[in-house]
Amino acid sequence: MDYIELVKHMSLREQARLVTGADFWHTWAPVKYGMPSIMVSDGPNGLRKMEGSKTITSVCFPSAVALASSWDRGVLAHVGATLAEDCKANRVSVLLGPGINIKRSPLCGRNFEYYSEDPVLAGELAAALINSVQAGGVGTSLKHFAANNTETRRMVSNSLVDDRALREIYLRGFEIAVKKAQPWTIMLAYNKLNGSYCTENSWLIEEVLRGEWGFKGLTVSDWMAANDRVKSLHEGLDLEMPGSGYANVRKIAKAFRKGELDENDLGIAASKVAELVNKSEPALKANAPQRNLKGDHEVARMAAEQCPVLLKNNGVLPIKQGAKIAILGERARKPLYQGCGSAQINSYEVVSVVDAFCDAGVATEYAPGYDIKKPDEVNTKLINEAVAKATVADVALLFVSTSEADSAEGADRTNLDIPKSQVALIEAVCRANPNTAVFVASGSSVVMPWIDLPAAVMQTYFLGEAGGTALYNIITGRVNPSGKLPESYPMSLDDTPCLENYKTPADNNVIYKESIYVGYRYYEKANVPVLFPFGYGLSYTKFDYSGLTLDKSSITPNDKLTLTFNIANSGAMGGAETAQVYVGLPDSLVYRANKELKEFAKVYIPAGGSQTITVELDRSAFEYYSPTLRAWVVEDGTYDIMIGASSADIRLTAQVDVKSNEANGEIDYKDAAPKYWNADIKNVTEEDFVDIFGAYPSEYLGDTSDDRITSVKCLDELWDTKVGAKVNEFIELVLSVIFEDDPGMYAVIYNSVMTIPLNRFVAISKGLCSDAMVDGIVHLFNSGSVIEMLKVMAVGIPDALLNIVEPKVRDIIEKKSRC
Ligand code: BGC
Repeated sequence: MDYIELVKHMSLREQARLVTGADFWHTWAPVKYGMPSIMVSDGPNGLRKMEGSKTITSVCFPSAVALASSWDRGVLAHVGATLAEDCKANRVSVLLGPGINIKRSPLCGRNFEYYSEDPVLAGELAAALINSVQAGGVGTSLKHFAANNTETRRMVSNSLVDDRALREIYLRGFEIAVKKAQPWTIMLAYNKLNGSYCTENSWLIEEVLRGEWGFKGLTVSDWMAANDRVKSLHEGLDLEMPGSGYANVRKIAKAFRKGELDENDLGIAASKVAELVNKSEPALKANAPQRNLKGDHEVARMAAEQCPVLLKNNGVLPIKQGAKIAILGERARKPLYQGCGSAQINSYEVVSVVDAFCDAGVATEYAPGYDIKKPDEVNTKLINEAVAKATVADVALLFVSTSEADSAEGADRTNLDIPKSQVALIEAVCRANPNTAVFVASGSSVVMPWIDLPAAVMQTYFLGEAGGTALYNIITGRVNPSGKLPESYPMSLDDTPCLENYKTPADNNVIYKESIYVGYRYYEKANVPVLFPFGYGLSYTKFDYSGLTLDKSSITPNDKLTLTFNIANSGAMGGAETAQVYVGLPDSLVYRANKELKEFAKVYIPAGGSQTITVELDRSAFEYYSPTLRAWVVEDGTYDIMIGASSADIRLTAQVDVKSNEANGEIDYKDAAPKYWNADIKNVTEEDFVDIFGAYPSEYLGDTSDDRITSVKCLDELWDTKVGAKVNEFIELVLSVIFEDDPGMYAVIYNSVMTIPLNRFVAISKGLCSDAMVDGIVHLFNSGSVIEMLKVMAVGIPDALLNIVEPKVRDIIEKKSRC
């Protein structure tokens, strides 16, 4: 049946019901028309399907950051195809991912859910995952669109981004994924972008996403991100999730009466929902496939083997057969294999490294060395026990991680350290045994002031439930590590380009002062040394690059350029290498990074073998976004084509002349924005930013003369009010008792509760708490008077009753008319 046709027969109220969810995970089913409801679920590093308050058991795949460090589209596609089968077996129509927000700072608590600091890597990998999930008949939701790069007060923050950074860094990955994979849905982020909520931003949704990129699918709000439903409908938000009951249906109907909305606003959105239901046929079929959790676990293991990044190795890895092994660190037994929040899977079978050695029948000695529950407490007794085991071993394998709360949705990190107790263990064990290999599991980059001590260091990221087996295979040389860093590792937090302007400040304006200088684009141009560069990763074997040729020495922007080069494996073990193609224009008119990633290819090469790699570049490899010309343009000039084993290890170079006059009329940035020209980001002033942004951030503050609390404030902004402080302290107390043993979940829940704007309680309560009731609460925060609050709230009672009763009555009438 074609449900889109049916929408035309629906009443206004029915269409309005269709564009708001039925509950947290389902769309509304207009039974009268025979249209079913469909289910969406989180992940996407597994299926996080909720059944009531419980999450079903599923296989936990490596987190996005780990998958990204595979740099392997094939791995993403394999995981995607597996996820699609699991979704269908569970009648889930849309998997809510992938998330591809740029890692603007390593402090972002959600970096583990995102791919990279580079938009090409993020966009390409997302396209691979989306294409394979959707080829299996299940939809995806590319998220969180857009410029949602900080977790601190994410529902009220306002990202102020200049046009170039927006286009080249923050939107580019989305653009690639949309154009290459057409996700069925795209999730609009919580934050505001340049003054408008992403859910109410027609420039972003209609002009760029649909108009320029040709997005055909449905836009869905992040959960509770719809601020003003009528406005958002008009500006391009199709589906509001979760459902707000009848509250917004009535508001939409009223807006029609007042002429604020027209039929198209609602009709198009309702048709998009219907179209999604059409597409969902495979997941809705009665004869759904059977789940294959054991098989999926194997896929998770294979994927995990491609992810870990070998950062340092003096030959201790792989370990020799028969070596006496000490496995140290509580994380070897209780791995940190996923982050906290909506991407948290109720895992099927978690295998630790200790389990994996044991399963393989290899004898090891284990000591915890620290207590993960007491990260700041250096426990001498535990350290001494571990040191004793390390001393008599041939090799010590030491497992450390960041704290759980450092990789949690809704919260940002405060530092890049691993806990004190674990650093103390690294120092002591390395002193006792020079053959120590340290394995770090974190959701994003960490600093390593101890890097010189161990013989080997591996970043495992969050490897999913089969990570222990994958690591066993890598440690013992059954698998050759091939991961490369999808992000730069700064020497210290102070070196990061956006430090003081990263977290949402008191006025909620997050100023993207560093513009395009994110990650390696900044470190290279500003000559800031890093601990490990973007794209870096070692192998147990050695790869030699040679013979770069270009099929043309001169091109126009419309030509394709084909590059060919060779990689030989000159070591003794087969392995995979990721070659990275960077492009730079040293004599550019505009400020630019020294080089930018434009393509990459991962190939497996047997020992002694070699492989020819061919890569094609199109105009997107040469263009930049010109705010002056309001277009993507290709500058005339001689471009460097660089083939690297990492961004800092360029093995082959060549030049190509590009003949173009597209940049005629461009301004001279050397004069117009000298600090950006020199990447002198730490000294960029507000005036410098205004030069490239075009407005003062203070212009986004609204009327500051009136400091009364309004309904768009969240609890976290109310600490200064007497009532707010009391309410917040109470919430803190209650949650700390409930989540005493789960610091990650505490961070997620606490931050979620504290950062929900008050006006969203209308939707959350499905209208039981009506607008006037929220006004009453606002009144309380302003006046402190409970009596006054109740008086204001009383006005909202009829509205609340109608919100609850009207849909029930309509359902009954409809049922009767069907009988
Ligand atoms: C997250 C989304 C997630 C949604 C549903 C939100 O809080 O930001 O990524 O898909 O919840 O759980």
